[in-house]
Amino acid sequence: MHINTTHILLSLLCLSLALNFHNAVSADSLILGCGSASGGTDADGRKWVSDSAYLVSDESISATAQSQDPSLPSPVPYMSARIFSAESSYKFSVKTNQRYWLRLHFYPSTYSSLDPADAYFSVVAGGVTLMTNFSASITAQALTQAYIVREYSLAPMDFEILNVTFKPSDQHKGSYAFVNGIELVPIPDLFDKASMVGFSDQSLDVGTANLQTMFRLNVGGQYIPASNDSGLTRTWYDDSPYLYGAAFGVTSEASDKLKIQYQGMEDYVAPVDVYRTSRSMGPDPKLNQNFNLTWVFQVDGNFTYLLRLHFCEFILTKINQKVFDIYVNNQTAMASADVIAWTGSKAVPTYKDYSVYVTDGAGDEELWVALHPSIAVKPEYYDSLLNGLEVFKISNANKSLAGPNPTPSDMLVKAEAARSFASNTKSSNSVIGVSAGGIAAAGIAAAVCIVLYQRKNRQSGTDSRTASWLPLYGNSHSTASKSTISGRSTASTHVSTMAASLCRHFSLPEIKHATKNFDENLVIGVGGFGKVYKGIIDGGTKVAIKRSNPSSEQGVNEFQTEIEMLSKLRHRHLVSLIGYCEEDGEMALVYDYMAHGTLREHLYKSNKPHLSWKQRLEICIGAARGLHYLHTGAKYTIIHRDVKTTNILVDEKWVAKVSDFGLSKTGPDINQNHVSTVVKGSFGYLDPEYFRRQQLTEKSDVYSFGVVLFEVLCARPALNPSLPKEQVSLADWALHCQKKGILEDIIDPHLKGTINPECLKKFADTAEKCLSDHGLDRPSMGDILWNLEFALQLQENPDGAKAISERETPEEFNHNNIMGIHRNTLSLGNDDSDMNEASDDLNGSEVFSQIVKPKGR
Ligand SMILES: *[C@@H]1O[C@H](CO)[C@@H](O)[C@H](O)[C@H]1NC(C)=O
Ligand SMILES: *[C@@H]1O[C@H](CO)[C@@H](O)[C@H](O)[C@H]1NC(C)=O
Ligand SMILES: *[C@@H]1O[C@H](CO)[C@@H](O)[C@H](O)[C@H]1NC(C)=O
Ligand SMILES: *[C@@H]1O[C@H](CO)[C@@H](O)[C@H](O)[C@H]1NC(C)=O
Ligand SMILES: *[C@@H]1O[C@H](CO)[C@@H](O)[C@H](O)[C@H]1NC(C)=O
Ligand SMILES: *[C@@H]1O[C@H](CO)[C@@H](O)[C@H](O)[C@H]1NC(C)=O
Ligand SMILES: *[C@@H]1O[C@H](CO)[C@@H](O)[C@H](O)[C@H]1NC(C)=O
Repeated sequence: MHINTTHILLSLLCLSLALNFHNAVSADSLILGCGSASGGTDADGRKWVSDSAYLVSDESISATAQSQDPSLPSPVPYMSARIFSAESSYKFSVKTNQRYWLRLHFYPSTYSSLDPADAYFSVVAGGVTLMTNFSASITAQALTQAYIVREYSLAPMDFEILNVTFKPSDQHKGSYAFVNGIELVPIPDLFDKASMVGFSDQSLDVGTANLQTMFRLNVGGQYIPASNDSGLTRTWYDDSPYLYGAAFGVTSEASDKLKIQYQGMEDYVAPVDVYRTSRSMGPDPKLNQNFNLTWVFQVDGNFTYLLRLHFCEFILTKINQKVFDIYVNNQTAMASADVIAWTGSKAVPTYKDYSVYVTDGAGDEELWVALHPSIAVKPEYYDSLLNGLEVFKISNANKSLAGPNPTPSDMLVKAEAARSFASNTKSSNSVIGVSAGGIAAAGIAAAVCIVLYQRKNRQSGTDSRTASWLPLYGNSHSTASKSTISGRSTASTHVSTMAASLCRHFSLPEIKHATKNFDENLVIGVGGFGKVYKGIIDGGTKVAIKRSNPSSEQGVNEFQTEIEMLSKLRHRHLVSLIGYCEEDGEMALVYDYMAHGTLREHLYKSNKPHLSWKQRLEICIGAARGLHYLHTGAKYTIIHRDVKTTNILVDEKWVAKVSDFGLSKTGPDINQNHVSTVVKGSFGYLDPEYFRRQQLTEKSDVYSFGVVLFEVLCARPALNPSLPKEQVSLADWALHCQKKGILEDIIDPHLKGTINPECLKKFADTAEKCLSDHGLDRPSMGDILWNLEFALQLQENPDGAKAISERETPEEFNHNNIMGIHRNTLSLGNDDSDMNEASDDLNGSEVFSQIVKPKGR
């Protein structure tokens, strides 16, 4: 079942190159790369053509973005734009009585020295106002996205020409309009009547409505790219970010043998992948009675919304086995929903449409969708079910779909301000900065292996939903255009004032003195960034000095990333940054010296003495603590993304420290596409779910850490191509042996007979769980930490440990139980105090202290 990881990688690469839109809608689709003379092909293999033939007026110029954000799925269509200085239109011939998707792509970036913040405009299509006073830049900032795609569904028209008009706002001086891509795709009539929530037996005719797609989720499943949709080039997203509270329920997937049968329903309504996966409440009927499975969405007030709920029961077969109530905004949309009663049998999909009006209340408007078992009808299982969910905004009486721009959270605004302050101070020597900026931009996020994102803490934090992703730089896409590369800089040009104030600045002579003018004999390592030297500062303190390879463009960004990250994070189990030097084109980072080097060199392929089992366990526990801190210690989750045994260092007292976060060994790839974005990190440690979801979570680190655990146990590399095929990948091989019960055969011979069997079992079970296929099934770093500590106790004091175990852990990895135990037995308190030191009240530190300070612990 487990295919060798390298094979997956290779086939994914080939697949994405060969991928074409087999099931492309119809030849009538227009896919326009705006402002581009020749069009081009995007990462999905879709062809974009020039927009010039469709332009009516000539108040426009075409321009190329000055920087390419690394999170763009591909340069086409985002790197070129059509800029309008006055009202201008596109004219498309359309069929009457035909519904269309109109998709608009926006990448707010600097075009021909125009400030993206000046673009405020309206768009009207066929008499329907799609947006007014729209700022792509504010919207992107609030959503922390580099680019924005808006999808509209235009109702069948009775004219044969569709005018799409862009008009710069007259409320803002110097305002302009722009667009990067336009798709106009004829689609079948997807919409009919929707029952109105709160009005019994009344329905709204959506067949003639103009709609804007707000959310489209593959509930309980993964991201579905446009190329895998059932012909309508829609993109479906994971639903978990929208789940309310901690009640995530459970996800399930239909078995491969089961065929989904569309009966009485067109198969373009939603792809099979949507119906094959679902989310339900869980196996415990008592628990299920006490909560609602709830999704919450931010929407604009004063609009009616269409909600389409997709269902497919693929486990139960009888009526009255699973019956549930559907609530929309706290009103009953449907009582006693029974999917089998609707469809007649299992594996038959269906959907239900509801409409609800959202008033403009005080604060943010929300749409709640909640499911609860219908206790009253006494179904066999107290459970509920959902497979897919789409939310559309319906145009109002004025034929408008326009809403206000979102408000970026305070924190994002402050982060932005701090950053632009830092970059303005250096703008005088940024002459060559602009052209180099593009390259630098691509480097930054390629190098930023760490993604910060706000934890799913719905109740707290005012900024929790408007901006759920916070890239490291607050806003990496616009950082890019402003960051500069200046060969002759003498001041610290690349480091934000905030970070600079936190760590020491070394002069170049100091660095040269410390490393005996970069003596090759002092080199202790080489990385993507450059060489690492052992050095002595302040007359005796040993340090490790990482010198940037002056010829590496990538170096600048990695350098920044490391400083920004490390200056904010202080923890016993994270390598600490002492200071940095940036002078005369030289860049160097100064770290604590780790006397014992990397964990790997103590495991295999070196002549160092072998570590005892207890030492190995302690190192794993230390590393787990470091990662646990990254994941949970701050208000924002930090994902390391490159957990491996060479990134776990050991100091002279054998204390493990996690290092190299912010560094990527693979260089920046200008032609970023999904695959290359995905393939960050190191082969052999990569989370397979990453490929499926293309979404980074802390559980990806957990997977990599699972590989580290097996590596520590078996003392062999994560990938060893010289072994027989089934053994090449340690993850696959260890799991295989673990399942067969023959793990003992592959453990490090030096450990044979020294591991307490209970301890080994606990350790191996933990590692195995880390390697679960689905992130949700993997334990959290906190759970791992607890289990490793417990394993250590089983090794040291087997009897005492077992007694505790029986008392306190009735069920392994039960998160609620485990959390209670954490608080009592783990000394995480000390770790916090380390961290608060870092957020002392320094000038301009407010921003990062919000980022770093733990929230309510
Ligand atoms: C489209 O715009 C043209 C002018 O550019 C106008 O003559 C025509 O009436 C418009 N068509 C529709 C259907 O609005
Ligand atoms: C898209 O479909 C292909 C072919 O069915 C499949 O191999 C691939 O995994 C799918 N991609 C995603 C991201 O679901
Ligand atoms: C919503 O409608 C009310 C009443 O018509 C109006 O006072 C309010 O300003 C509107 N809100 C928005 C955001 O348009
Ligand atoms: C629904 O009820 C919950 C809790 O009772 C409340 O927090 C939420 O604001 C309500 N949602 C709407 C849209 O009224
Ligand atoms: C579920 O949601 C409905 C509608 O908001 C509410 O009336 C009910 O109390 C909720 N049930 C539970 C158990 O939270
Ligand atoms: C429609 O436009 C009119 C005039 O601009 C305005 O008074 C009215 O509130 C708008 N209606 C809606 C539903 O926005
Ligand atoms: C346009 O949007 C900006 C940013 O959201 C807002 O500050 C401004 O008031 C809006 N202007 C109008 C005329 O609505």
